[in-house]
Amino acid sequence: MAEPGGADRWVHSPHGSCTERRFRRSAGLPVTAGSPFGRWLDTDPEVARLLAEEFGRQTSTLQLIASENFTSPAVLAATGSVLTNKYAEGYPGSRYYGGNRIIDEVEDLARERARSLFGAAHANVQPHSGASANLAVYHALLEPGDTVLAMRLDHGGHLTHGSPASVTSRLWRFVSYGVTPPSGDPGQPGEVIDFDQVRDVAKSEQPKLIVAGSTAYPRVIEAEPFRQIADEVGALLMFDVAHPAGLIAGGVHPNPVPLADVVTFTTHKTLRGPRGGAILATAELARRIDSTVFPGFQGGPLEHVIAAKAVAFAEAARPEFRRYAAAVVANAQALARGLAEEGFRVVSGGTDNHLLLVDLRSFDPELTGKVAQEVLDRHGITCNRNTIPDDPRSPFVTSGLRLGTAAETTAGMGVDEMAVVASLIGRALRQRDDPGALAAVRAEVAELCAAFPPYPDLAGPG
Ligand SMILES: Cc1ncc(COP(=O)(O)O)c(C=O)c1O
Repeated sequence: MAEPGGADRWVHSPHGSCTERRFRRSAGLPVTAGSPFGRWLDTDPEVARLLAEEFGRQTSTLQLIASENFTSPAVLAATGSVLTNKYAEGYPGSRYYGGNRIIDEVEDLARERARSLFGAAHANVQPHSGASANLAVYHALLEPGDTVLAMRLDHGGHLTHGSPASVTSRLWRFVSYGVTPPSGDPGQPGEVIDFDQVRDVAKSEQPKLIVAGSTAYPRVIEAEPFRQIADEVGALLMFDVAHPAGLIAGGVHPNPVPLADVVTFTTHKTLRGPRGGAILATAELARRIDSTVFPGFQGGPLEHVIAAKAVAFAEAARPEFRRYAAAVVANAQALARGLAEEGFRVVSGGTDNHLLLVDLRSFDPELTGKVAQEVLDRHGITCNRNTIPDDPRSPFVTSGLRLGTAAETTAGMGVDEMAVVASLIGRALRQRDDPGALAAVRAEVAELCAAFPPYPDLAGPG
């Protein structure tokens, strides 16, 4: 059984000893607030209770949302630190307020670690989220009304890639490319980025910026063909690696930094850091990016989160993170195989990364993504409904589910557990009208989660 994450993956947290837990139980206090500093929340029992309940939910149910992970206790500690008290508008060496000598060191450390992890000329670690990072880049590189070529939303693009619901589509003119149709041939199943279409649309629409990257694409995205097409039409290239950032850092996916003008990412998905965003850029674009993030777009940076990003960048540079990244992919492939055996069609025939999309129609034509998500959620399996390419159902209903392995791999699960998870999903959805069968699934999920606690030092049997 693989032990890629496992209990040895993080330095031990100083809190949560058995004695303390026993005391807290006997005093009627929550055993944990899901934070190394949970004990301080005793002053606010309502919030402490909610945090303890969420800790219980995260650790007793399967976390299969592809954009989530379990951070290390060190990342939690930095996020919950006194750095939240400091105003630091500006950048290291050039702040609006005093008292930033140490904060400058924190942000410099985070920037330097990000640059070194991805081999980038410049890093901006201030974006509060992936969406903020993308908006800042568009704002830095484009004039209102300029054309951007990005992935179709119903083929895997993100809201910030020009959704009608996003401000991006009001400020800039988005045109799109998609994936090829499914071929029915297991050797070449299709549903991969259609580069002929990328080139055709780029030539006819002459975008100023091409966006590569996706929120629900299970294959490697190579930078070369995007760079070539961008050069053919004189466009800039932005790569949004919000999802695979950790797989790139862990060396199992190609790094687009040498070929892209700008790379944006989130720090909380496969990279396993705090919730946040970051931007990598060429030296030439560095000043434009920085001045757009601040003062153009944001106010004071979240230096406690920036410290946590620094922790995560250092963790991702360690050899054990390479093993983790490889295990995430092996687990996603095992989950895809197991689900195919259960009768689900796996979009594009499998996965090269941490996520997979399943088409529920082959399993049961009546079953929607919405119903499947609800049934699984009620029985301890957390994932999200997702459109599949050319989905006949609306994005609120969908014919698909998106599943990811980043979090449970951190908890220490391996390919054997993924086979069990696939069979639990198949059983729950096949027997969704049988309360007894569903109760048995819930009990087995709880047993599995108890064997792989993501935070053994924050809680446990007292
Ligand atoms: C490809 C992509 N870009 C950007 C984002 C936005 O990140 P955030 O939710 O941190 O704003 C996401 C989030 O899922 C994403 O998948």
